[in-house]
Amino acid sequence: MTVALVTGATQGLGLALVEGLAQRLGPTGTVYLTGRNADRITAAVRAVPGGGAEVRGELLDVADPGSSAALAGKIRERHGGIDVVFGNAVMRVGPDDDPRTIIGAYTEVNNFGTTRLLRAFAPLLNDNGSLIVVASSPGTLRHLAPALHRRFTEPSTLDELDAQIVRWRDAVRDGSARSGAWPGFVNIPSKIGQVAAVRILANERRENDLARGILIAASCPGMINTPTSALWWDVSTAPAPAQAATALLDLALGPRDPAHHGELVRHGEVVPFS
Ligand SMILES: NC(=O)c1ccc[n+]([C@@H]2O[C@H](COP(=O)([O-])OP(=O)(O)OC[C@H]3O[C@@H](n4cnc5c(N)ncnc54)[C@H](OP(=O)(O)O)[C@@H]3O)[C@@H](O)[C@H]2O)c1
Repeated sequence: MTVALVTGATQGLGLALVEGLAQRLGPTGTVYLTGRNADRITAAVRAVPGGGAEVRGELLDVADPGSSAALAGKIRERHGGIDVVFGNAVMRVGPDDDPRTIIGAYTEVNNFGTTRLLRAFAPLLNDNGSLIVVASSPGTLRHLAPALHRRFTEPSTLDELDAQIVRWRDAVRDGSARSGAWPGFVNIPSKIGQVAAVRILANERRENDLARGILIAASCPGMINTPTSALWWDVSTAPAPAQAATALLDLALGPRDPAHHGELVRHGEVVPFS
């Protein structure tokens, strides 16, 4: 039996990933549809078409420091391990939000939420499993001033990376980031931080993962027509979440390419980090 889990799965790409997994895994699979709100989880589970894997709703507020570890513990008890994990949750922010006021919650969901998910679920991965963090094309160093690259290339542990994210968060909060080299669009350092987290974890586990057919990667879904992206751009002609999910599902469930391990992958191709 194959067991999968998606964070931030109550709408958008996350819900499409659950639907795609349920379809591809078939009746012997189990897909955990997780989110931060019980009512929205229940509604989303009901919305998934039947006929595929069992879809189980579970609370997983990635901003809650104990949430990932608690659910990982339950899944270990129930299934012994896990085959597919998508870290997809994102805090929705718009152009009118003041970065200084949202940055605390934003990093808690997108960055510390990601590193907590990686720490909790990577040890549970079964042979041939995959752990994919949904990042974005801005998640590479070419979008960042060279003076800041070391913040994301030097950390060799997730704790060291978290410490760099704290420095960035605090600089955004006190306004000093604006007078420095940091980009104003907080999505950029946040997504670079997610990709850096994947690189660190994959580097720590590389030899063993490759021997066991495990993939740890970040992925870039491209522009998608969701309410979050619509706050920033005209996405009326962008792919629907179900279309965007296809390449990510292929990556997670398809044949392994060792070149993908620890990298940001877009439509099967590695997007260089630096
Ligand atoms: N849309 C694009 O064009 C685009 C492009 C590149 C990359 N991406 C990436 O793709 C992913 C999905 O984006 P999307 O556009 O589908 O976003 P979305 O429609 O805004 O969905 C975000 C999901 O995250 C959940 N979430 C928010 N805070 C959470 C928390 N603390 N714990 C758990 N779940 C939480 C939301 O739950 P609620 O329903 O409770 O709010 C929702 O289910 C993100 O990582 C995003 O950065 C998107």
